[in-house]
Amino acid sequence: MKFFIDTANLAQIREAQSLGILDGVTTNPSLMAKEGIKGAENIKNHYKEICNIVDGDVSAEVIATDVDGIIREGEELSKIDPKIVVKVPMIKDGIKAIKYFASKGIKTNCTLVFSPGQALLAAKAGATYVSPFIGRLDDVSTDGLQLISDIRIIYDNYGFNTQILAASIRHPMHIIECAKIGADVATCPLEPILSLLKHPLTDNGLTKFLEDAKKFS
Ligand code: E4P
Repeated sequence: MKFFIDTANLAQIREAQSLGILDGVTTNPSLMAKEGIKGAENIKNHYKEICNIVDGDVSAEVIATDVDGIIREGEELSKIDPKIVVKVPMIKDGIKAIKYFASKGIKTNCTLVFSPGQALLAAKAGATYVSPFIGRLDDVSTDGLQLISDIRIIYDNYGFNTQILAASIRHPMHIIECAKIGADVATCPLEPILSLLKHPLTDNGLTKFLEDAKKFS
């Protein structure tokens, strides 16, 4: 399973990259706004900086919601760096744009996916990634992980190449469950990734080993 970090914060991206386990980055307009990135040129430069830090795919989201606007914006974004993946919302014009981008060899991430039917359309259109939002479904008392399972079954039934990019991950168990289901990618903030490191028996065991090591050093 690939690990993407879901942030536009350069320090956190660098920290995840330094672990040696990072496969890419996802951003969205809210994450860009959180970092105070405003204006077309600054946004472009910020994406370029992110691409310079990581080795893998970097999702950059369009703001337009009409097919011509999405295509115009997506083509501009894709020129920033070959690592850029154009992130397109799951709407009718988004599907049309994804189909166009697929025909031009431009990678896409279909975002804001909350149902198996939406995921099926994204795959039919030729999306590189589909982003089902687990945490936001859980927030409204719907099983987000069930959606990942349903999409896995549908994609496997027909051999779709679209990668399932589990998004809106809130805690380490979301990551573990996604790995068990067979999601291709998990994108999450730095904290859930670092939480995977933690176990009290590891800490206790290491303390004891280091104490005992002093006895013969
Ligand atoms: C995915 O690409 C989205 O940017 C993200 O995972 C949304 O997460 P949130 O529900 O925590 O905002």
